[in-house]
Amino acid sequence: MEKKLIEVFHWLHRHPELAMKEFRTTEYLKKVLLDNGVHLLETGLETGLIAEIGTGGVPVIALRADIDALPIQERTSLPYISETPGIMHACGHDFHATCMLGAALLLKGRESSLAGTVKVIFQPAEEINVGAEKMVSTGLLNDVSLFITGHTYPWFPAGTLGIRQGPVMSSADRFLVLIKGKGCHAANPDLGIDPIPALGAIISAFQTVVSRQVNPFDGAVVSITRVEAGNTWNVIPETATLEGTVRAMTESVRDSIRQKLEQLATISAKAYGCEAVFEYERGPAPVVNDNGLCDRAAVVARELGLDVQVNPPSMIAEDFSRYLKLAPGALFRIGTGGGFDNHHPSFTADPSALLPAARFFATLGEKELEHLVN
Ligand code: NI
Repeated sequence: MEKKLIEVFHWLHRHPELAMKEFRTTEYLKKVLLDNGVHLLETGLETGLIAEIGTGGVPVIALRADIDALPIQERTSLPYISETPGIMHACGHDFHATCMLGAALLLKGRESSLAGTVKVIFQPAEEINVGAEKMVSTGLLNDVSLFITGHTYPWFPAGTLGIRQGPVMSSADRFLVLIKGKGCHAANPDLGIDPIPALGAIISAFQTVVSRQVNPFDGAVVSITRVEAGNTWNVIPETATLEGTVRAMTESVRDSIRQKLEQLATISAKAYGCEAVFEYERGPAPVVNDNGLCDRAAVVARELGLDVQVNPPSMIAEDFSRYLKLAPGALFRIGTGGGFDNHHPSFTADPSALLPAARFFATLGEKELEHLVN
């Protein structure tokens, strides 16, 4: 099994594909699953797949992997380095796909003794936050009672599993403020309405939202990442723009930050005689782990000889939260060593972590079905 998984992992790493372009990856995974007698569901999607193992009836739980790569030029010395220039599995989704494939094969070997059905999701386009929505839109996950996923974690060595109860990954929203003034000659500011002082006031005001208005024990971030106004030295521009992101670990903090930003933008702009147009685009929701599932997972992990650690929460988002709107679940951190962060060109995932992780997800899936039956 380990040899097979490492072979799959190397193939996937050598052939990374960007979000929504995971054609070869899908074909390859399909072939390996079918060759091993695993039943695949008809998703109607161009990329990604769902395998089904077990009775075909309830209860149903889902194991989820993502399969897309990133537009990054790989800078490792791996013998199985990416063969596609400018594209790399720098977030370990090749590891996730291999690990859940391993879990699927292990479960296939115990199929007749399963207390229900395990759906194994190979999801496209996690990096652009549309893949989970696509999988959900197939309707094939409506009967799932529990969703389980894992993510590579370079800060724990192989053989370690990170488990954290409650919020583990944040939401990720985008905001844009367009400040409308009135352009004029820079020599005659009194004849126009300069949007730049309003821009400055809004930047300062936004910095106070997390520090002054959010409970210090609730994690949240407001980052302004782009400001734009004017294009030369002797013209007061007509408009100014500012853009950025909001991250929060709970829906209530997320909503209250949105409200405060809009209020500060509108009122500050008005104080300077301008008008502010506030746009807010909601991205993935926070990932909030089910506490009971975390407790049971820790028992399974220890029984399998994994070192269980509490991983810190992260301000990075994950569209796994989309599934958690259907049913509870959890995201676990798989220690994969390497020492370079996810999305870094030197990111690597230790293949020796594959089989223990596959065993963990297969065993947890099997036990959770029993737990749902009893
Ligand atoms: Ni990722």
